[in-house]
Formats: sequence, C-alpha cells, structure tokens
Amino acid sequence: MILFKHPKDITTFIVNQSIERNSIGFVPTMGALHNGHISLIQTARAENELVIASIFVNPTQFTEQSDFEKYPSSIEADIFNLEKAGCDMLFLPTVADMYPNGSLPSRQYDLGRLDSILEAEFRPGHFQGVCQVVQRLLDIVAPGKLYLGQKDFQQCMVLKKMISLLDIDTSIIICPTQRETDGLAMSSRNSRLTPAEREKATYLFRAMQSIQEKLREGDLAQLQRNAQEILTKQGFKVEYVAIANAHTLEIIQNWDGKSALVALVAAYINEVRLIDNLLLNPPLQ
Ligand code: PAF
Repeated sequence: MILFKHPKDITTFIVNQSIERNSIGFVPTMGALHNGHISLIQTARAENELVIASIFVNPTQFTEQSDFEKYPSSIEADIFNLEKAGCDMLFLPTVADMYPNGSLPSRQYDLGRLDSILEAEFRPGHFQGVCQVVQRLLDIVAPGKLYLGQKDFQQCMVLKKMISLLDIDTSIIICPTQRETDGLAMSSRNSRLTPAEREKATYLFRAMQSIQEKLREGDLAQLQRNAQEILTKQGFKVEYVAIANAHTLEIIQNWDGKSALVALVAAYINEVRLIDNLLLNPPLQ
C-alpha cells in the first residue's frame, strides 16, 4: 500500500495509473478502523481495480470541540489492517492540506429536511462539514464508487443528495452495518466504552429489535415509546428513537403496513454518544 500526504501527489499518481474512473473505489474514514471499515475495503477490493482509503479526522463536522479532541486514533494498526485487506493507497492529509484556504465553509449545501432532522437536529452543522470534506476528497481522488456504511444512515442520504446537487460522477455503494455477536454496531467510538458501558451498549440494538418484533400497521407511537423506555431504564440519555420512511427519512406515526421503514437511535452512555439503525422490513428497494 502506498501512503500519500499531499493532495497533489495522490491526484497525479491516480491520473498516471490511467485506470477508468468506474474502476476506482474509495473508502473515506476518520481512522480508528474496525471490521466495519475493513468490510468496506473488502467490498471495494472485489469491485475495483484500484482501492483507495483516506484517514482524516475532519474538524469541521464536529459540533463539540471535546468530541473532536477525544476522537480515537490507532494509525499504525489502521495501516496494517488496510494493507491486509488489500487497499492499494492510503491518503493521510493534514488539516492544512485539506483546507489550504482555511476550514471556514465556502458554500452552503442545500440538503433540505436532512439538515434539520435527527442527527442534524442534535449536531447542527455536522452534515455541512461532512459534505465539505467529502466534496474535497472526491475532487482529489475522483473515484467512480464511494463506499459508505449503512451504520451512518442519514449520512448516506446526505451524501447521495450532495452528489446529485453537484452532479458528481461518483456512485454511492452502501454496505451493511457490521455487528458484534451481541448485536452492537461496530463503531470507532466503542473503544471509548468501559466494560460496564460496553455491556449496556447492546441495548441500542435490542431496543430497535423490540420495534421490529412488534411492528404492525397503524399507530407506531407506543412502539417508539417502549424502545425509548428500554434505553432510559439502562441509564442511556436518549437523543432520539425514531421510526422513519427508509427512502425519505420522513418520520412515520401511522404506518400503512407497506412502506419501507427504518428505526434510528442516538443516545449517550455517560460521555459516549452512539448511533444505530435497523431496516425494519427489508429489503430496501
Ligand atoms: O463517516 C465518517 O467516518 C465521516 O463522516 C467521513 C465520511 C469519513 C467524512 O469525514
């Protein structure tokens, strides 16, 4: 695997490979890699001639400075695991490389409702920062395919919207959430959990399963409340438990028994904020 620090170097190298854009797969990350990330690399490996990953903890997508500062890092292990999974190139820029003119946003992305609901409500400005960094990364790498994990459900929708707004020639491939054997979604933030918190964290998945098991046409309010109660009883500080249309993220109160639904949760266990989601009636078309 070849490491690049400077945008110009990686762009020139990729161009010189003369590989068709559609055969370049890109996996953007913020490091502290786990098997969820590695499964994205493996999928990209199977589908492309050239596989590129990036590790960049993007300051502009953090609402809390302390969250940015505490973001876990394991760069040596990350490099080892990326190489093992067959990644060809790793882009490891600094903040100055990514934002040579300063990190203040130069534009506002019109993300509609996606920029005010669920994650966006609790992390104002987050998705603007995600769009800013991903647009810059796509400019540098110019991949045909961008691999994202379903774990960040709303982020996937936001980036689809951004790509369509800017008419970027990259398709998004959404890969399933990887889970530990007890159901906890793999996340870099899990490494910040104490053993006791780690045990409780599994209730996020259980709460969503409780919705899935009792899902019936009609009013969903009680299901949503029950799931929230499961979490509160375990000591979580819940930001949201929502049941939404899986294509539009419109919150569904009264289900017609047909439309594709997704349950989404965000909650704190002490200092650590975790999110997860579950497609309630897959497959998603
Ligand atoms: O999902 C993430 O890790 C980040 O939001 C991303 C897409 C790498 C942008 O910084």
